[in-house]
Amino acid sequence: MKIVIAGGTGDLARRMLLPALYFLDADGLLPADLGVVGLSRQALDRDGFVRLAREAVEARAEGGLDAAVWSRFAARLDYLAADLARPEGAGALKVRLGGVETIFYLAVSPTLFDAICETLRGARLSEAPNRVVLEKPIGRDLVSSGQINAAVARAFHEDRTYRIDHYLGKETVQNLIALRFANVLFEPLWTSQSVDHVQITVAESEGVGDRWPYYDDFGALRDMLQNHMLQLLCLVAMEPPASLDPDSVRNEKVKTLRSLRPISRGDVSHLTVRGQYRGYAQECGRPTDTETYVALCTYVDNWRWAGVPFFLRTGKRLGSKTTQIVIRFKPVPHSIFSGAARADLMANSLVIDLQPEEDIQLTVMNKTPGLDREGFRLSPLPLSLSLSRAFGGGRRRIAYERLLLDVIANNSTLFVRRDEVEASWAWIDGIRAAWAHAGQGCKPYEPGSWGPSAAYNLIAQFGRSWNE
Ligand code: BG6
Repeated sequence: MKIVIAGGTGDLARRMLLPALYFLDADGLLPADLGVVGLSRQALDRDGFVRLAREAVEARAEGGLDAAVWSRFAARLDYLAADLARPEGAGALKVRLGGVETIFYLAVSPTLFDAICETLRGARLSEAPNRVVLEKPIGRDLVSSGQINAAVARAFHEDRTYRIDHYLGKETVQNLIALRFANVLFEPLWTSQSVDHVQITVAESEGVGDRWPYYDDFGALRDMLQNHMLQLLCLVAMEPPASLDPDSVRNEKVKTLRSLRPISRGDVSHLTVRGQYRGYAQECGRPTDTETYVALCTYVDNWRWAGVPFFLRTGKRLGSKTTQIVIRFKPVPHSIFSGAARADLMANSLVIDLQPEEDIQLTVMNKTPGLDREGFRLSPLPLSLSLSRAFGGGRRRIAYERLLLDVIANNSTLFVRRDEVEASWAWIDGIRAAWAHAGQGCKPYEPGSWGPSAAYNLIAQFGRSWNE
């Protein structure tokens, strides 16, 4: 079997894919016969590619390379200088592959997906069991994503099309599935009867930096919300799938996406906030109204979640890098406590920290120890699970390790199906259209803050506050 990395000398290959493959090899998880072919238009020979791969792996391997693993890994590497968007390129690759089962990893601009899939089809390289892996962004709206998906589908069957959302490769994100479906405790409470609201925060401390040409064209709504955050929302809100097989899980996710309440033109100004950090336009070197921050409130209009607000926010250059999901439960239906203890009483929360540390905390009300003239006092205490402490705090895996392993094993549960991509774009397009109609601009915020003050007003209208 071979993996061809188109874009083999690019940023994604160097930062993620080559190190991830090396780590899989180190753990004995790669098939013995797996070859890795770097492919790009850059004139480079095999030795040059091996050197590039070594530097890339060294940059990620704390404690250095293991000599035996490296020599085994290096022996897998090959390089082809070719333009895969042209039939000659696909022809040269076909000769190099010699008919073995191949995974084509397109770590290139999505504008090339169409041409590359067409040349692979022309060279009959897209036939089963070969498969294709696509990186985001798959389009910039519903129409363009439909065009890309249709072009890919002319060459590769959906079952052999692997759309990456690297959040699904994160151990912590998969743990959401375990938390919900491997425990009897939470699921009975996981409904509008017990849940008051849900918050999902994906905050980054870094700015946009060199990526501004891409980012300024996309903005936070398309870059983070359409994919990573809606995937997190799906894992929180979906119905229990019958099994972990790809279609069971993805059917439930797509039903959730289709249940998202559209944000109408009339509601957009009080249900969403766009923000831009100060200094962003200078980084881009031009005036721009692209949002680097979004906060919004939405609903999953189905039986389970009727009336439960979901508050989502994401942004660049915020206070810290934090990915957190909060399930805030309803208050007890009747308080038997009076006096100060009545005021102490707080609703339970399940706080799931996904990054930078993986921690799960369930806040539980307790009697504050001691004597008090008024009798009882209450305080919240966390029942706390630190996954890194529990599991020895080993090396944090690159999300791509899980995903590459799954592509090799032909398992698409953690990949995004075409109808999911399209359902999420349809919802996102509605927000963009409403923004355009309302002329909703960006509110400025200070780097290092938690976003524009309007985001606090957004959640305050609902009588709730962000978990900070
Ligand atoms: C990418 C976005 O998909 O995810 C980036 O394009 C963002 O803008 C990144 O920084 C965040 O990923 P992670 O794994 O660092 O949370």
